Amino acid sequence: MIDLILKKKKGETLSREEINSIISGYTSGAIPDYQVAAWLMAVCFRGLNDDETTYLTEAMMYSGEVIDLSAIPGIKVDKHSTGGVGDKTTLILGPLVAAIGIPVAKMSGRGLGHTGGTLDKLESIPGLQVVFEGHSFIDQVKKIGLAVCAQNEHLVPADKKLYALRDVTGTVDNISLIASSIMSKKLASGADAIVIDIKLGEGAFMKTLDDAEKLASIMINTANKMGRKLIAVVTGMDQPLGNAVGNALEVKEAMDTLQGKGPKDLTEVCLELASHMLVLGQKAASTAEARTMLQEVLDNGLAYQKFEKFISAQGGNLDEFANKYDKPTAFTVPLVATQSGFISEVFALEVGRASMFLGAGRETKESSIDYAAGIILAKKRGDYVLKGDTLAYLHTNQKESINKALEELTKAYVFQEEKPEDSPLILKTIV
Ligand code: URA
Repeated sequence: MIDLILKKKKGETLSREEINSIISGYTSGAIPDYQVAAWLMAVCFRGLNDDETTYLTEAMMYSGEVIDLSAIPGIKVDKHSTGGVGDKTTLILGPLVAAIGIPVAKMSGRGLGHTGGTLDKLESIPGLQVVFEGHSFIDQVKKIGLAVCAQNEHLVPADKKLYALRDVTGTVDNISLIASSIMSKKLASGADAIVIDIKLGEGAFMKTLDDAEKLASIMINTANKMGRKLIAVVTGMDQPLGNAVGNALEVKEAMDTLQGKGPKDLTEVCLELASHMLVLGQKAASTAEARTMLQEVLDNGLAYQKFEKFISAQGGNLDEFANKYDKPTAFTVPLVATQSGFISEVFALEVGRASMFLGAGRETKESSIDYAAGIILAKKRGDYVLKGDTLAYLHTNQKESINKALEELTKAYVFQEEKPEDSPLILKTIV
């Protein structure tokens, strides 16, 4: 391991066998954290070339179980987002593309810190299960075209160890390390084609279009070398997506969107990502044709019916969900504008943190969450407000969290006198 650290420190290229030996040795415990930490830092300074990134992805992918979806007929298309605030797109995209006949067998994670996780959102629905026994996951996809399960702990164990180590050694933000971490999990989950939503902006991992493009091209390269197709769509994350942040609040907004009553930005991002999924899944010849098909299943109710079938197949009860969250949380507090003007920013990071303080997110892996808590944004970027107008509503059952959350959410809003220019939502598609 010392030789491999020195080799990378000098900027030399590592072979497939050498990268395999690092990953297998680290996963088994034979190589200690401190040596891998030194190697990761050398990678951050010297970089990995395309081949090395592919070898790393491959080694991580095969560090545990690999899911075989071949029993499900058709082209299986997965979607992944690099993470954001208010990002409930999986809840909408799954039913939307499944309604057109694309089988979706999705593994999702829980939220940590200021970003939410699809599993937490789903589990706000009473009765809903995300753990499947035996063949039941594949059987559900075969039967209704859609299933979402918890990330299997045997899947890509190397990434779990490596990600935790990167987190505490300042080595998260290397593009090859991010690409191999995401791609190893996606490839191990068995899909034939993948749409990656690369979030760009203040609340996201990628802060510049240049970095987002580099990440996309590394991921496309890696996927293609491993026989899978991948399209990356760079979307804006300067402000939260949609108006709802918090688990049950986001499920409600996803249900509205599936019934054609969702916020414009959220609907647009979902239609864009879904249209690429239809093209990759060979259900449409172009994204324009895909859009027409998607609009049809939104308008005729098929997309929402697919959502209902999916929730019920996983044991969820939407009547109980409606009853449970119909009554407001113990405290609903407005955030009021202290000045008039146009809103030029609604920083996603601060909104996510405020929502976490209200009980909607976990500060540590062990924290429990309150599914009802969260924030509804009443005003977003470009809106004009008068002093005294309500900017957002905070929902919580913990009285003691209100002041801290209000203080954080106040920091999210920035005002200016002129109307800000529109910031594009879909920045680039990279094929
Ligand atoms: N998401 C991941 O899964 N891994 C990273 O390294 C960054 C974002």
